[in-house]
Amino acid sequence: MPRSPIRRPPPDLDLSAHLRSVESLPEVLTSQSLFANDQPLEIEVGSGKGLFLTNASSATPKHNFLGIEIQSKCAEHAAGRLAKAKLANAIMVSGNAEPLFAERVPVESLAAVHVYFPDPWWKKKHRKRRVLNETSIVNYATAIAPGGRLHFWTDVLDYFEDTVEMIAELAPHLGVPIPEEEIEAEHDLDYRTHFERRSRKHHIPVYRVRYEKQ
Ligand SMILES: C[S@@+](CC[C@H](N)C(=O)[O-])C[C@H]1O[C@@H](n2cnc3c(N)ncnc32)[C@H](O)[C@@H]1O
Repeated sequence: MPRSPIRRPPPDLDLSAHLRSVESLPEVLTSQSLFANDQPLEIEVGSGKGLFLTNASSATPKHNFLGIEIQSKCAEHAAGRLAKAKLANAIMVSGNAEPLFAERVPVESLAAVHVYFPDPWWKKKHRKRRVLNETSIVNYATAIAPGGRLHFWTDVLDYFEDTVEMIAELAPHLGVPIPEEEIEAEHDLDYRTHFERRSRKHHIPVYRVRYEKQ
């Protein structure tokens, strides 16, 4: 399916409070170091155009949200949405989530990790490039605090089944997979993410799961 083009935010929109490079990030990623408060921190990996980050940070002002997006154009677009909505509890990082989780997110510090519609990497020899792989699953499970959540949604059944299997094997302390419901969408922005909207509009099934760490 073709992807829709990404628009850069208008040049006069100030992104300085909402877009960070990896180089400009603090050494350790916490609510205190990023937002100067102690609200629970949630991280989204692969934010795309930023629909989830915008809706979630606006609906949950008492939590902080960090989106990590490897494509700089997408990160800018998502940061533009946050800036337009003047959201003080959300920041986009333009960069790779993997080393940030491996090196800079403290153990048992996160209220949630969100991974929605990660790129499928269909070929078997490319599977190790998937965002959800053996290393990241262990890193996410380590970073999530007791009682914290991992959300994973995809429209690729094989990715879904492989991931559920890997989590059971590598991170059993994340608990059992809890199915998440499809929410009625009355409006184009009511979907969890752009890719959820795309899949549902094309009648492609979506597999949704949540884990809650013991
Ligand atoms: C298929 S898109 C889905 C975007 C969004 N989550 C959605 O559901 O609309 C996957 C996104 O993950 C991003 N991505 C892939 N690998 C990444 C990584 N290692 N770190 C951060 N973002 C990554 C891609 O650039 C892409 O924007």
